[in-house]
Amino acid sequence: MSRVQNFIDNNISTFENELFDLLRIPSVSTDSGHKEDVKKAADFLISQLKEIGLDNVTLHETKGHPIITAEKITHSDKPTVLIYGHYDVQPSDPDDLWKTPPFEPTVIDGRVYARGASDDKGQSFTHLKAVQAYLHSDTELPVNVKFILEGEEEIGSPNLVPFIKENQELLSCDMVLISDTAMFGEDQPSITYGLRGLAYMEVHVTGPNRDLHSGIYGGAVDNPANVLCEIISKLKDDNGVVQVEGFYDDVASLTPEMREAYSILPFDEEEYKESLDLKALHGEKGYSTLERASARPTLDVNGLWSGYQGEGAKTVLPAKASAKVSMRLVPDQEPDKIAGLFAKHVKSLAPDTVEVEVKAHHGGWPVVIDLDFYGLKAAAEAFRQIYDKEVLFTREGGSIPIVADFKKVLGVNSILMGFGITRDALHSPNESFSLKDFHRGIKTSAKFLEVLNDFTG
Ligand code: BES
Ligand code: MN
Ligand code: MN
Repeated sequence: MSRVQNFIDNNISTFENELFDLLRIPSVSTDSGHKEDVKKAADFLISQLKEIGLDNVTLHETKGHPIITAEKITHSDKPTVLIYGHYDVQPSDPDDLWKTPPFEPTVIDGRVYARGASDDKGQSFTHLKAVQAYLHSDTELPVNVKFILEGEEEIGSPNLVPFIKENQELLSCDMVLISDTAMFGEDQPSITYGLRGLAYMEVHVTGPNRDLHSGIYGGAVDNPANVLCEIISKLKDDNGVVQVEGFYDDVASLTPEMREAYSILPFDEEEYKESLDLKALHGEKGYSTLERASARPTLDVNGLWSGYQGEGAKTVLPAKASAKVSMRLVPDQEPDKIAGLFAKHVKSLAPDTVEVEVKAHHGGWPVVIDLDFYGLKAAAEAFRQIYDKEVLFTREGGSIPIVADFKKVLGVNSILMGFGITRDALHSPNESFSLKDFHRGIKTSAKFLEVLNDFTG
């Protein structure tokens, strides 16, 4: 085994402890009460990058949370890999469902439990440690590396898009390497070549000028909560088809080859159902579960509030009702266009008994990466060597909006080298990450940097 791979094996417990230190910082980007914590996580990574020996380690302040860049350029004639990751995390709520404290990393059966363990602190940290293994074992880095780490991924990367537009020279590279997705299953290395996009909306329905007695006014005054439910119920039909006018106009249909690729994936629908404690699944007619969850666009209510939520009963006709609704998009749907179509459609469903307001939150473009891209082949080879197994190529339903911008602005493809698995419970209580995959992830990243030179574009 090489010096680099040995170095990783010999230092894995130090690496784990450093990851645990990072996991102790509650860097929740969406909550302004945690702004200092997000900064603390950024500072922790800055000191890591400096200690590892990277050059030009810089913390860039933004209107929101900081962006970190660093680099090690050693060969002008070798490819440059830009490594992206995010150090912000989702809120930990509902906290009472955590079996261990969300910001006190706890190891149980070889998995570390903590918010951000997999998404994305644990996964992105693998690359820092892989680069460290070269620089601290007197082994020349086989390619050039750059880092870009952000603290706003979970809120739609509002400051990263302008940053990459303004810093194209600083970020110039041949490809982007990202570990922020999931493998197809345990011990099943996978490369994700497609991600869905996102259009995130909020709908507010306003009726009378105050909450009313539902006995005195009920039947004579329209109820915003009822109206909201009626509108929502018209957004999809019984077959799961989105009814927003024009929604499917730009959707690229699945080719027979793509459907064939899906059909050979080792997917067990019964197991999937059981893992969710469900009696039945639901989705768009004519598509398989995997296709529905990654290659087809969809629409879901993410939050819904109105009226009395406390204990017991309160007879009230609420003055207001609101919903958060997101749509997952696939090529070639455009987030802004879909947001516009949604707003128009919802307004067209509104009766004149209420006011309906529709607001758009962040969006993100969908991506599909060309399977012929040489970087994917190098990543597959690295996985093969470390996991001793053939790689699967999959599409996933989640979104990493910046991937499309890396392509549009910097003109480069991304390699989605995920080390997580579905069991990691991203965004849910009891998020965890397998320490075995943390270890293999570091080794795979190091191997990728080594074998990349054997592949050319
Ligand atoms: N790492 C996830 C995205 C992901 C997870 C992709 C699993 C594929 C498989 C990322 O941190 C995330 O949660 N993204 C958000 C998008 C964002 C704009 C809030 C998402 O997908 O909801
Ligand atoms: Mn993530
Ligand atoms: Mn996430």
